[in-house]
Amino acid sequence: MEFTDAKTLLETNGQGHVLAFWDKLNADEQTALLEQIATLDFAAIARMQGILKDAGTPAAAAGAFEPAPVEVPEGDALQACVAKGEELLAAGKVAALLVAGGQGSRLGYEGPKGAYPIGPITDRSLFWFHARKILGLNRTYKTRVPFYIMTSDTNDAATRAHFEENDYFGLPREDVFFFVQGMWPALTTDGKIILDKPGHIFMSPDGHGGMLAALDRSGALEDMAKRGIEQVFFFQVDNPMVAIADPSFVGIHAAKGADMTLKVCKKRDAHEGMGVVVIRDGHYAMVEYSELSDEQMERTNADGSLWLAYGSPAIHMFSYAFLKSEAERAMPLHLAFKKIAMVNEAGEIVKPEKPNGYKFEKFIFDVIPNAKTLACLDFDREQEFSPVKNAEGNDSPATTKRDLQKKWRAWLEAAGVTVPADTLIEIDPAYALDAAQLKAKGLQIG
Ligand code: UD1
Repeated sequence: MEFTDAKTLLETNGQGHVLAFWDKLNADEQTALLEQIATLDFAAIARMQGILKDAGTPAAAAGAFEPAPVEVPEGDALQACVAKGEELLAAGKVAALLVAGGQGSRLGYEGPKGAYPIGPITDRSLFWFHARKILGLNRTYKTRVPFYIMTSDTNDAATRAHFEENDYFGLPREDVFFFVQGMWPALTTDGKIILDKPGHIFMSPDGHGGMLAALDRSGALEDMAKRGIEQVFFFQVDNPMVAIADPSFVGIHAAKGADMTLKVCKKRDAHEGMGVVVIRDGHYAMVEYSELSDEQMERTNADGSLWLAYGSPAIHMFSYAFLKSEAERAMPLHLAFKKIAMVNEAGEIVKPEKPNGYKFEKFIFDVIPNAKTLACLDFDREQEFSPVKNAEGNDSPATTKRDLQKKWRAWLEAAGVTVPADTLIEIDPAYALDAAQLKAKGLQIG
């Protein structure tokens, strides 16, 4: 993009200030700024400015709703679904899709969150556990489960480097497909793009809902089509307990012919940071925890149980057809008021003491109301959910490692192996994906 084109575009859209320091930039900075300007989506920025006008209280945003019904899979029907899931896995019809473009700011870890060392003995990374589970599926079902990983400009190079350094954790390289989500500017309260340096626009990832457009743009959807993928297992980077594409989940979802199926689990307490699946205006929807009021979170039923008892661990199945049909649809925007270091009129960088700018994100679960068939399944969180989100306290590396130990110890005990209380345990998912596989190894004690 040329300077004059950039100037016209910015001025037409009321963002002329972006070039205020142009004359003070060196040639490289000028080129980089023009490149950034070329990526700006002014239609999206206009939508952002529109919703800034209505930025009200979070609780008002959620509106009126009821908790969604939850199924507990069991019995013969479940067994039939497991067989269906195994058949789809063996036939190569299932893909794994990981969203790992976030910045992991709460954890305070430099580098992609997926590279965080979580192995209790080996310090192996979150990515290692995810990839080795896929390898475990490949071995168990004599198949190839392609692994689609969404990154963002903030961590794409480092993520790819981590996979390279670890030889793709044993996965065939051609089955690992990285794709990069979009980045968006942040806006001041009066809708102006924020510069974080005189020649640089502050940009952040456009939310995991950016996944739909990015899947399309990157050719990942086309790649899925070529491979004959019918079902897509979706998960987040922070949970090393996740059972990736377990046949029961794949099978239940496929047997229902559902567009989307979600795992849900009982919340630890009223304020646990989990989205909740609800029925609103006759449709399923997700209400994110940040959009719930205290009253909604704390409300109880007559028997004292929580009204919003179940939360979403962000473990979903999508049919390929549904993902494809949603890829072109504009998604709602969610906004967060944040402290963003910003250049003042004199060109100085000022760190604000109070929130000063809005960041915007798309959330993948906003496709839920568009799903024609959808189900929520209860699952055992002790087996499958213990995310690393915070540096300390709940959902921290310490609690995740504790929960991994507990689960693996139980697997070993079920296999007839008793491990002394103070011994650390770590099990490679490519060796055993679950308790039954571990037992089948016929481990010897001593
Ligand atoms: C998320 C869910 C919440 C759910 C909880 C379960 C959202 C908005 N909320 O909360 O409903 O109950 O997990 O643990 O997701 N990511 C991207 N690109 C982005 C932003 C995020 O790929 O632009 C990825 C992250 O890398 C991560 C995942 O999305 O894998 C979740 O992001 P995070 O911000 O950690 O969500 P939570 O607030 O923990």
